Amino acid sequence: MAERQTGCELTHPGTWQQVNPSASVTQPNHMNFVVLTIFPQMFAPFWDHGIVRRAIENKKIFASAVSIRNFAGNRHQVTDDRPYGGGSGMVMKPEPLAAAIRDASQTLSGAKTVLLTPQGRVFNQKMARELAALTGLILVCGRYEGVDERICHDLIDYEISIGDYVLTGGELAAMIVIDAVTRLIPGALGGEDAAEKDSFSDGLLEHAHYTRPENFEGQEVPEVLLSGHHQEIEKWRLESSLMRTLLKRPDLLQEKILTRRERDVLKKWCLEIEKILDLHQGEKKWI
Ligand code: ADE
Repeated sequence: MAERQTGCELTHPGTWQQVNPSASVTQPNHMNFVVLTIFPQMFAPFWDHGIVRRAIENKKIFASAVSIRNFAGNRHQVTDDRPYGGGSGMVMKPEPLAAAIRDASQTLSGAKTVLLTPQGRVFNQKMARELAALTGLILVCGRYEGVDERICHDLIDYEISIGDYVLTGGELAAMIVIDAVTRLIPGALGGEDAAEKDSFSDGLLEHAHYTRPENFEGQEVPEVLLSGHHQEIEKWRLESSLMRTLLKRPDLLQEKILTRRERDVLKKWCLEIEKILDLHQGEKKWI
């Protein structure tokens, strides 16, 4: 379906550098993730469940979490220090981070480096698609008050936030990015086209889903879904998709370039609503 081409989502004045124009735009069939963190143990259960686990087993993704402490180069493996200028909290030291990023970049040539930070660009499905087109991602998880600013200048390609709230570190944010990107890698999901029908993939929320039983606590499954009539089911799904988007996320409809079919459905609803309002106007049926 048509989608407004708003250019590369991974560019942002200030916090984002232009994506390398020579970066591959075709979807590779695997992805390498390296997470740099002071809590690599947090990732063990993450690698070990669900689609991410299956993608690792099927070699659709390669994933590892590396301790930044390994690059601290001091006996106590200290990775933070007090901020210049005073103030509360600690700042992640630049040397261990730089060494960890350089080490990962050497292993994953062509990978892009992402810093997870609340000051980054807010992550969305379009960014997930753009990241999924790369062959490698190095995800840098900040802790404390943040990382030394000098790390961002030369060593970070993108800064990503997962929303306008502050976490205690970038680890959960990195997991969210990895999860969203992994399911877009060809073959990572069971049904090959499952990701294409997702919410947001064509600028709309996904249609409603039902499974057995046909009657759940008095609520029936829409009859058309039991009919086996594929064309009617497709039509119902499009209308369900549009209706949910209109009610839950009207902002998405404002952004989207509508297909002729989508426009026709919206116009039909518009006419029906106008008819009802005219009727009420004529009969003065309101309180
Ligand atoms: N680290 C702390 N808060 C964050 C956020 N909202 N997104 C990404 N990384 C973060």
